[in-house]
This record gives sequence, C-alpha cells and structure tokens, in this order.
Amino acid sequence: MKFFIDTANLEQIKEAQALGILDGVTTNPSLMAKEGITGEANIINHYKEICNLVEGDVSAEVIATDFDGMVKEGEALAALNPQIVVKLPMIKDGVKACKYFSSKGIKTNVTLVFSAGQALLAAKAGATYVSPFIGRLDDISTDGMNLIKEIRLIYDNYGFETQILAASVRNTMHIINCAKLGSDVMTGPLSAIEGLLKHPLTDSGLAKFLEDYKKGN
Ligand code: E4P
Repeated sequence: MKFFIDTANLEQIKEAQALGILDGVTTNPSLMAKEGITGEANIINHYKEICNLVEGDVSAEVIATDFDGMVKEGEALAALNPQIVVKLPMIKDGVKACKYFSSKGIKTNVTLVFSAGQALLAAKAGATYVSPFIGRLDDISTDGMNLIKEIRLIYDNYGFETQILAASVRNTMHIINCAKLGSDVMTGPLSAIEGLLKHPLTDSGLAKFLEDYKKGN
C-alpha cells in the first residue's frame, strides 16, 4: 500500500519523507488555506516546493468547476512537474475532464467520492486515482470502510487499473482497516502515520533491554 501525506505543511512533509516511507502528497484548497498559502502565484510555488521535497505523486486540485476551466488549470498544473496529479472533483465536468486528461496520459485523482457509483464512473473515465473520503462518511454515521470494500470488489470484477486512494483518513485504525481491505493507497495526516509506530510493549521492552545492558556494563 502506498502512503501519501495529506497536508500542505512543508515541515510535516519533510518529517514523513525522512521516515523513508512516503510515496506522495495530497493537498486541497482547504489544506493550502490552513498553511496561509493563498493567491495563484503562491499556490503554484508551493506545489513546486512540495515536488522538490518528495519523489512521488503530488495531487494538485483545480478550482474551476467547468470543463474548459478545469482543462486550462489542469494543463498548467501538470506542466509544473511530472509528479503533479491533476485533482478533479466528482461532478459531471470533472468526469469529462478526467477522460480528457487520461487520454493525454496526464495523471488524475478524482476527489470527493462518496459512493461506489461515483468510483465506477471515475474508473470508466480512466482516473489514475479515485479518492473515497472515509472520514467524512464516518462523520455522518455511514461506514466509510464499507465504501472501500465495495470499490475494491467492483474494480477487481472488471480489472480497472484506477488505484483506490483512501482519503479523509483521520486515524491509525483507518490506515490498518484500509490495508486489510486492499486499498492501493491511503492519504492521511502525519499523526495517523506515526500512530502505526506505537505500542506500549515496544516502549517497555526497549526500556528493559537498555536497563539490562547498563547492568551488564
Ligand atoms: C483528500 O485528498 C483530501 O485532501 C482529504 O483527505 C480530506 O480529508 P478531511 O475530510 O480530513 O478534510
């Protein structure tokens, strides 16, 4: 399973990269705004900086909601760096734009996916990644994991190559459950990724090893 970090915070990206397990980055307009990155020029520069920090795919979201606008913005984003994946919303024009980019060999990430039907459409349009938002489904008392299960089944039934990118991951258990269900990728915060490291028996075991080492020396 690929690990993407879901942030526009350069320090956190560097930290995940230093761990040696990072396969890419996802961003969205809210994450950019959270870091105070506003205005087209600053946003473009920020994408360039992120691409310089990591080796993998970097999702950059279009703001336009019409086909022509998405194509114009997406082409400009894709021209920044071959690592850029054009992130498109799951709306009618987003599906059309996805088909346009995939037929040109430009990587896409169809975002704001909340149903198996939407994921099926994204795959039909040749999306590189589809982003089901599991945390936001959990927020409204709907089982986000069930959506991952449904999409996995549908994609496997037909051999779709679109990768399931579990998004809106909020905690460590989300990551583990996504891995069990065969999600190709997950994108989450650094805290959820670092949570995978933690076990009290590891900490107490290490403390004992170090204590015993000191006794013998
Ligand atoms: C996905 O690409 C989105 O950026 C993200 O995962 C949304 O997560 P949230 O629901 O925690 O905002």
